[in-house]
Amino acid sequence: MTKKIRKVVIPVAGRGTRFLPATKVIPKEMLPIVDKPLIDYAFEEAISAGIETFIFITGKDKSVITDYFDKSIELEAFLRDKGKHEAIDSIIKILPDSGSIVSIRQREPLGLGHAVLCAQDIIGDEPFAVILPDELLISDPPCLKSMIESYVSLGGNLIATMKVPKNETSNYGILDIESISDDIISVNRMVEKPKTRSAPSCFANIGRYILDPVVFSNLKKQQPGVNGEIQLTDAINSFDSSVPFHAKIFKGQRFDCGSKIGFLEANLALALERPDLSDKIRSSILKLLK
Ligand code: G1P
Repeated sequence: MTKKIRKVVIPVAGRGTRFLPATKVIPKEMLPIVDKPLIDYAFEEAISAGIETFIFITGKDKSVITDYFDKSIELEAFLRDKGKHEAIDSIIKILPDSGSIVSIRQREPLGLGHAVLCAQDIIGDEPFAVILPDELLISDPPCLKSMIESYVSLGGNLIATMKVPKNETSNYGILDIESISDDIISVNRMVEKPKTRSAPSCFANIGRYILDPVVFSNLKKQQPGVNGEIQLTDAINSFDSSVPFHAKIFKGQRFDCGSKIGFLEANLALALERPDLSDKIRSSILKLLK
């Protein structure tokens, strides 16, 4: 029987250089999609999957991320004085239980694998989830929840995947496929950012993982890979072949909020789905397109 997935690692140490100058003083994870910061979507996805402990791997100037998930006594008092009850609700409903947020500083940006390794002592010897918050995934049930449902029978390592255009494969971890059955792919290995012509498929890793804790021993031995970084992909490939490796095909909307276009598209798409904004944003778009 598989163990319950109780903990998630959310790496947020990146410098967000693609969003400069905005990210000179604001972490990119705090940039808003409609009226919530990007990080909130990852957090809600984790909550809906039953996660109890949220481990942020942070870097310099990222403390506002943990502040965001903390109680703001002063702001609540201010809003109460002004009678702004809806606004109070909006800041209270995001508050996690005391003790459920852990923040770990990654001293140097040595890669995603290294960021995950920083969480080893907090995770211990149990399987855990990883969410890359740049990848905003909207679906019902949410991606991680539906992965956990499959993980119960699959065990091992499981990631989420989606097909991407061939000419974009070099931006992702790409799956070398053994077989496909419905929405579950049995994976031979994953190739991190392959050259387009040598991509083994068009199925990309879209930033959701459920991992066996043995990944930490693999990461400790891992040499730098693509871009000179310690790659999580390489540590997953280093598992013994007796450990199953699957990918679940994601069915829903995906926005790559690490890119400007993906970020803007997410804002439009989610605004179009909001009852309070939908009509107005629709007519704004039509007006702009004239
Ligand atoms: C990371 C992973 C890659 C994955 C991607 C998804 O790459 O290493 O396997 O496909 O996220 O966005 P990054 O975009 O951090 O370079």
